Amino acid sequence: MKVLIVGSGGREHAIADAVNKSDKVSKIYCAPGNAGIGQIAECVNIGAMEYDKLVQFAKDNEIDLTVVGMDDPLVGGIVDHFEEAGLRVFGPRKNAAILEGSKAFSKDLMKKYNIPTAGYENFDSPEKAMEYLETSNYPIVLKADGLALGKGVLICETKEEAMAGVKELMLDKKFGSAGNTIVVEEFMTGREVSVLSFVDGDTIKIMTSAQDHKRAKDGDQGLNTGGMGTFSPSPFYTDDVDDFCQKYIYQATVDAMKAEGRPFKGIIFFGLMLTEDGPKVLEYNARFGDPEAQVVLPRMKNDIIDVFEACIDGTLDQIDLEFEDNAAVCVVLASDGYPVAYDKGFEIKGLENFDNKEGYYVFHAGTALKDGKIVTNGGRVLGVTAKGADLKEARANAYEATKLIDFDNKYMRSDIGKAIDEA
Ligand code: AMP
Ligand code: GLY
Repeated sequence: MKVLIVGSGGREHAIADAVNKSDKVSKIYCAPGNAGIGQIAECVNIGAMEYDKLVQFAKDNEIDLTVVGMDDPLVGGIVDHFEEAGLRVFGPRKNAAILEGSKAFSKDLMKKYNIPTAGYENFDSPEKAMEYLETSNYPIVLKADGLALGKGVLICETKEEAMAGVKELMLDKKFGSAGNTIVVEEFMTGREVSVLSFVDGDTIKIMTSAQDHKRAKDGDQGLNTGGMGTFSPSPFYTDDVDDFCQKYIYQATVDAMKAEGRPFKGIIFFGLMLTEDGPKVLEYNARFGDPEAQVVLPRMKNDIIDVFEACIDGTLDQIDLEFEDNAAVCVVLASDGYPVAYDKGFEIKGLENFDNKEGYYVFHAGTALKDGKIVTNGGRVLGVTAKGADLKEARANAYEATKLIDFDNKYMRSDIGKAIDEA
């Protein structure tokens, strides 16, 4: 079969790699893709938001299955466009992708269906938000309702910061219409875990857990980024935590979406905070995490095509998800200056060291082909993933592997997986 993947990051490279392992697949296309994805797929020069062109491409090339990796096209309704054209597509429809697309929606959903999450209020008036913040407890969290490249969350230590935050989100419109409504949320403390799941509208199957490192600098300092590295599994995601989430969070979310007339098919990513009062949902995403996918998918034993098809056909109850009994760590190699300003266009050297290197993966994010050479083309450039018998071995392997790759302005965190030592 022929598969089209929509997106261009490390996540889409990890998806393409998993799809490439399926013997059902004869050809992979990726729109728009990147230099690394181009080694296993044919990259097509169509943007992820160009739904009509993508639909036409899928028709012209008799694509059997399209897999959408990114949040923006999902929230924008790309799946509806494909379905209306009679094409098979993996991902939630627009009315279900709202689970990620509107934080106010997802908070109201959790409240209505008693799914554990932080206390909150939604505001569409800056005056009302400011009035509420006059008498709140601090720290407090402000969230832009809509998509904001992972940057629409402000943790405010003081009333002054919170007032400035309301101005930034709602009046100055730093994230455009994403800030028309904001969620003001209770501040929680605890460890964070990312849990990805496959969902077919009724049934949910949980993948192995992972943990992201969102801040740019060591010791969780610096600005929030898309993610600087991940490890899987999380040693903090114990059987007790899993039991609790299975009972109160996972199926409850799927059932709630169905009850609202918004059946969810695709990936639900649960951002969880393990608080003293038990696990609570920090946020939902409607797609694989990036770089979570880069440690979770390499450990998955199933043929991913079977799982995608089961989600589309509503037969996920017949699939047993299986993961290798090992660990994986991904260290992101970024351009120095990310997530603010950085140079690009530098040649990346050493990639050939990973040709057929068992247990190692170099997932491309911001890379491009220029005059036959692979060059840096973004903030997050590569994700270097290594497996190991356990997390410590995987971490040592991943950091050893990062030494084999070089480019000007190469930057990485040196403490990905440090939390493992505290487990
Ligand atoms: P989100 O995009 O909602 O996951 O938020 C981004 C990051 O902000 C999370 O990964 C947390 O580190 C932090 N965060 C979000 N909500 C809260 C909260 N209620 N309490 C503490 N930290 C939070
Ligand atoms: N790594 C977090 C995310 O994909 O949103």
